[in-house]
Amino acid sequence: MYQFNEYQASEHRYDDEKILYKRCGASGLRLPKVSLGLWHNFGSKDNYDNMKALIFTAFDHGITHFDLANNYGPVYGAAEENFGRIYEQDLKPYRNELIISTKAGYDMWPGPYGNWGSRKYLISSLDESLKRMHLEYVDIFYHHRMDPETPLEETMLALDQIVRSGKALYAGISNYNGERAREARRIAKELHLPLIINQNRYSIFDRTIEENGLKACAKEAGMGVICFSPLAQGELSEKYLHGIPADSRVARDGRFLHKEDVIQPEKLKAIRALKDIAGERGQTLPQMALAWVLRDPEITSVLIGASKPEQIVENLGVVGHTEFSEEELQRIDAIYQSIAGLLDGHRHV
Ligand SMILES: NC(=O)c1ccc[n+]([C@@H]2O[C@H](COP(=O)([O-])OP(=O)(O)OC[C@H]3O[C@@H](n4cnc5c(N)ncnc54)[C@H](OP(=O)(O)O)[C@@H]3O)[C@@H](O)[C@H]2O)c1
Repeated sequence: MYQFNEYQASEHRYDDEKILYKRCGASGLRLPKVSLGLWHNFGSKDNYDNMKALIFTAFDHGITHFDLANNYGPVYGAAEENFGRIYEQDLKPYRNELIISTKAGYDMWPGPYGNWGSRKYLISSLDESLKRMHLEYVDIFYHHRMDPETPLEETMLALDQIVRSGKALYAGISNYNGERAREARRIAKELHLPLIINQNRYSIFDRTIEENGLKACAKEAGMGVICFSPLAQGELSEKYLHGIPADSRVARDGRFLHKEDVIQPEKLKAIRALKDIAGERGQTLPQMALAWVLRDPEITSVLIGASKPEQIVENLGVVGHTEFSEEELQRIDAIYQSIAGLLDGHRHV
């Protein structure tokens, strides 16, 4: 049986409402400019009290949006289960204040129906996610990646059925390029499906959405963009400048971020140079890295991860200071260009 606690959300959580929330494209939904993802640190072996501290710190500071996927863990499903436990114990009274998203599209269960983008996979996966999270509906359900084989009509019709059945309020797509997103949006429009958001990686170190047409498509279609790994999984901080700290992602869960990538001397030199610019702006490097993503009017939210509650508080310091001078942007671009070749070979997710 669950033990019910007595979490009371801070009464000041919406004090910064005017600066914290932004409309998601042309939709009616406003998202916090900083959202929290549960990809790491919510697995079956992670510390449950820390998970609670992360979620409560976020919500107490006005972060209303929590992002999951069917296979976040490890083990697959564990992040949804842990979130579901916290929800059931403590967050249930706040359901109407929360935007909870999940996804399906990557490997989830064995056999031909536990991956990619078929109607069979998406609908059954969301049913399982809802059970794990103790929810009747999610706020956003995403197709997690492009499927080269399943017709896009089938995937979009599955999202449409999911929304019409009340199991999701809005639909989204993740890791789509501009061309596929444009096509998805066209089909969604015909169906009157609220396909309102793209979830893609974007950071000082990863400019893919500028190059593959996604950003341009989102603007043209009035869709929002929420950017994952805006800190390049923690590389855009000081933490790896002097080795690999024992409590870092590389040391604790290096499935997608490897030691040999974070200790490259050219990259460390670039990170030091970025840190200098951040210092001149009166920001920490993570704050500047988040500001760099949010400087763009097309971007709705940065989707951060955190291993410690203090990181969330530090990162929220970005809100209200997302303007850059032309000179600062040029200096950041020059640093990026100096290691761009190195970065291209190390995109893991
Ligand atoms: N759609 C997709 O395909 C996809 C793919 C990947 C991620 N995502 C989503 O995006 C979310 C965020 O991804 P991410 O975790 O890679 O984002 P990230 O914000 O780039 O990296 C988060 C990590 O950076 C470190 N960090 C955060 N704030 C810090 C600070 N102020 N100072 C120093 N280190 C700091 C922490 O790592 P340490 O453990 O080292 O402290 C933290 O776990 C995921 O949870 C998931 O919801 C989606």
